[in-house]
Amino acid sequence: MARQKKIKLTIDDREIQVAPGTTIMAAAETLGIHIPRLCFHPELSLQGSCRVCIVEVEGMDFFMAACSVEVWPDMRVQTHSEEIRRARRDIVELLLDNHPRECQLCERDGRCELQNLAYAFGVRERLFEGERKRFPVEDNGLSVVRDSEKCVLCGRCVRVCAEVQGVANLSQHGRGFTTAVHPAHGRDMDDSVCIQCGQCINACPTAAFLEQPHTEAVWQALADPEIHVVAQTAPSIRAAIGEGFDLDPGTACTGRMVTALRRLGFDAVFDTDLGADLTIMEEATEFTERLKGKGPLPMLTSCSPGWINFLEKFYPQLIPHASTCRSPMTMLSVLGKTYYAEKLDLDPEKIFMVAVMPCVAKKYEIARPEHRMDSGAPYTDAVLTTRELVWMIKCHGIDFISLDHGEFDPPLGVATGAGDIFGTTGGVMEATLRTAAEWLTGETADKLEFTEVRAVEGRREVELQIGGRTLRVGVANGLVNARLLLEQAISGDRKFDAIEVMACPGGCIGGGGQPYPGSRFRILDPELLALRAGALYAEDRVREFRRSHQNPALQAIYRQFLGKPGGRKAKKLLHTEYQAKLPRGIQ
Ligand code: FES
Repeated sequence: MARQKKIKLTIDDREIQVAPGTTIMAAAETLGIHIPRLCFHPELSLQGSCRVCIVEVEGMDFFMAACSVEVWPDMRVQTHSEEIRRARRDIVELLLDNHPRECQLCERDGRCELQNLAYAFGVRERLFEGERKRFPVEDNGLSVVRDSEKCVLCGRCVRVCAEVQGVANLSQHGRGFTTAVHPAHGRDMDDSVCIQCGQCINACPTAAFLEQPHTEAVWQALADPEIHVVAQTAPSIRAAIGEGFDLDPGTACTGRMVTALRRLGFDAVFDTDLGADLTIMEEATEFTERLKGKGPLPMLTSCSPGWINFLEKFYPQLIPHASTCRSPMTMLSVLGKTYYAEKLDLDPEKIFMVAVMPCVAKKYEIARPEHRMDSGAPYTDAVLTTRELVWMIKCHGIDFISLDHGEFDPPLGVATGAGDIFGTTGGVMEATLRTAAEWLTGETADKLEFTEVRAVEGRREVELQIGGRTLRVGVANGLVNARLLLEQAISGDRKFDAIEVMACPGGCIGGGGQPYPGSRFRILDPELLALRAGALYAEDRVREFRRSHQNPALQAIYRQFLGKPGGRKAKKLLHTEYQAKLPRGIQ
């Protein structure tokens, strides 16, 4: 193929040569020049609406958007002239004029991109005093709160919902002051095709989308001496919580996180990794049975609640393919209110289970009637996102960085490396294969790490030889990628025995409840996700046990309480069912 001739141009009086098709913004970056931006996101399509990235181009009588204009030969660009500085400041001042004056009360205070731009451009006072858009806050959602007054109409939520998740639930409606982003027909989020993943929260530069907070319920439980308050933390929390305290991404903070939860007053701190090991025991049992012809293939994993919502709303015909296993979080909460309650002679109604999750869809999951006890009380009482836990730790005056490295409490805090890797893409499949390989062959397998299924790029289709048979597996994160695998399976273009789907990009490490990235990274940044995943693989490598079926605490729980994997009691307590769900009026 003929090499394309590079384009020569000048940016801020420095000459540069770049490939045809390069935008001014990308060309400037190769010179180390950062052009401010708001609506632009490298992982999403171009919108070009905010104009924060305007630059001066010689010979043009208007400013041009650096994010969307491609370079041309001999172009001369000024990115930070006095005119540009003033114009950008005016743009931000106009955005602020139409924005609530409540930065000090806003959850994104200090992590808001609009606030950062205002600081960077020297906006120190409100120059414009005019009419401002007014909307009620939609705060009745189980997972997501929507506040259109804080929306800057950058469209990042609209694009992430359509382009990364394939849901396309959000779009811009109205004109002028009535313009707002919301689901079609003015529906509430919970009454729409929203799958509750929370990627709109991550993508939002301000606080137009936030998680439904559960912190107040947790404070109240912690303050009540009659209540036994238990925390469980998902694998990916340890890989990301440090970012909330300005530690480098990829710093595993397992021990400090456990100590912080104890300081907050939790009576016991358990590890959702044990719930993941338990999921593998049940799921590997289910998978080996289905391979013998007792159930439909491909088997679809079921631990990501955003994915389950997507399945129920967009692919109800595939519901029989989904593993019936509850999620690791719910399995652990079930054990907390049954096995653990019996062991300590506690009234399950006096146990308050708090799950710290990377995922806002977990807040929706705990409200599902299937995940309630016979009494009607939920197995999981509250879900805190990583961000909410960071705030609670700060609120309690805990110096997270200097904390000792605590240990999870037995027995529900004893886990294997297979549980750790659940937090990243391919982890559920790899953990299943670690156990299934031994169960299918009846021998101790040499192979432990199935790196082939670590789908860092978003989607993988792999064939593996195990026990004399070929296993065809697919792994997808981000629901656009999932759609591609599911459509192939439906059309018969490709045969799969099992498909792992994680709703969020990168898996739980990229969940909708993880810390907002600091200045070095943006959401969906593959480098950030790789650093978080690396922390989990490092934890896995130093574990005494790395296969779920080797977990000694779990072996004791099956012996003393559950019976055998996939047995009657395990089925009753650890499995669930799904239903086709369509928004009101579409059934
Ligand atoms: Fe270029 Fe918004 S970042 S127009």
